[in-house]
Parts: sequence; C-alpha cells; structure tokens
Amino acid sequence: MQPARIAPSILAADFAHLAEDVAMVEPYVELLHLDVMDGHFVPNITFGIPVIAALRRCSSLFFDCHLMTTNPDAYFPALRTAGVDLATVHIEVYPDPTRVAAQARAEGLAFGLALNPSTPFEAVEPFVELVDLLLVMSVHPGFGGQSFIGDSLEKVEIARKFIDSHSLPTDIEIDGGVSSENARAAREAGADVFVAGSAIFGSADPVAAVQELRASVESME
Ligand code: DX5
Ligand code: ZN
Repeated sequence: MQPARIAPSILAADFAHLAEDVAMVEPYVELLHLDVMDGHFVPNITFGIPVIAALRRCSSLFFDCHLMTTNPDAYFPALRTAGVDLATVHIEVYPDPTRVAAQARAEGLAFGLALNPSTPFEAVEPFVELVDLLLVMSVHPGFGGQSFIGDSLEKVEIARKFIDSHSLPTDIEIDGGVSSENARAAREAGADVFVAGSAIFGSADPVAAVQELRASVESME
C-alpha cells in the first residue's frame, strides 16, 4: 500500500474565491480533486475546462479530475491542455474502458476508473491492470455533503486484495462523505487516496481539517 494522500474536492469550496481556498490547503495536500458533472450522467452541473485552466495558473498540485459525464473521452485533449494530470471515468459509462484508457494515455493523462456504490467490483476487475487509480464511490455521485456509505469499505477491501495479489501499482481512492470519522476505517480497508470536500472546505479551519484527516489515516502507519 502506498502512503496515504489527501485530495480536497473543490466542490465544497467557495466558487467565488477558488484561488484563495486552494492556496490555503495547497501546502498540506498531495492532489486536488476536480468533480466535473454534465447534468446527464448525474443530475448536477459543476464546472469545466475554463475553470480548471484558471486553477492551473495558480496551483501546482496534481490535478485529479473525476469526470461524471457521459462522453468524457471527447474532452481528454482539452483537459490535458487545461492542466489535468489524471482523468477518471465511470465504468457505468464505459463497461469496457480498454479503448478509452489508451486514448487517455495517448493524450498524456494518467487514467482512473470509478465505480458507483451499486456497481460491484467484478465490473472493473478485468480492467484494473489498465488503470492508475480505482475510485470507489462512497456516496451516489452528483452532490457533495452526503453521508458515507459504509458498505463501500467492503469493496475497498476486495479491490485491495485483488491489487496486492496481482502485484499491481493501482491506487485506491475513496470518494464521498469522507471525514476523520471514517477515514481510518477506509485506510484499514486499503484506500490510498482520500477525497474530502465538505470535511475540508466546509470546516471553519480547512488546514486543521486536513491535518485531522491525515492524523486519522496515518495513526495506523
Ligand atoms: C460526489 C463527488 C465527490 C464530492 C465529495 O459526486 O464525486 O468528490 O465532491 O464531497 P464530500 O466530501 O462533501 O462528500
Ligand atoms: Zn469526486
């Protein structure tokens, strides 16, 4: 298992002061989680390429872009140009993501695969060796601020066993309702990357919230 990494989701940040919110947490985190939603795959619309490009000009964090859209591959070149490092698509959109994984790599993007709470690990199993990051959703995608679905930990455990038994370098990211209350259990189940929106930007002190989250995932290391 890799060292634990924290990925604040800007979905819970103040969109009128994004640069300030990102700058505040930047020295304390490893990735920035960017939730792009199109109003089709999920019933919500967030932000897109111009916002990501603007953030790239004021941040040097690794840009972890979670695409909750029906045709994410159409935007790979523009996302790369905007400064995205890793593009994650949903298995529910591409039941066989072999071609789209190759397309992302050809554009210079790392590739991630996400699965919804109702999608079993078996759906992604044949493709895990193609991906840099497996995103296990612990809420139904579409909105920040939802409660963590505890059953997702079992899926993290199954994924961790598969990845370790095949000696794969794939990271496991847990996304949705993550807080210092449940992050330790997610770490124990095998997660490497912890996305948190509300727990960080919804806090009166986002830096302290990051540190609290880190302390809870590192307490077992
Ligand atoms: C939900 C998004 C999450 C969300 C997490 O569809 O994928 O990344 O921003 O936000 P919290 O931590 O508030 O659940
Ligand atoms: Zn996300």
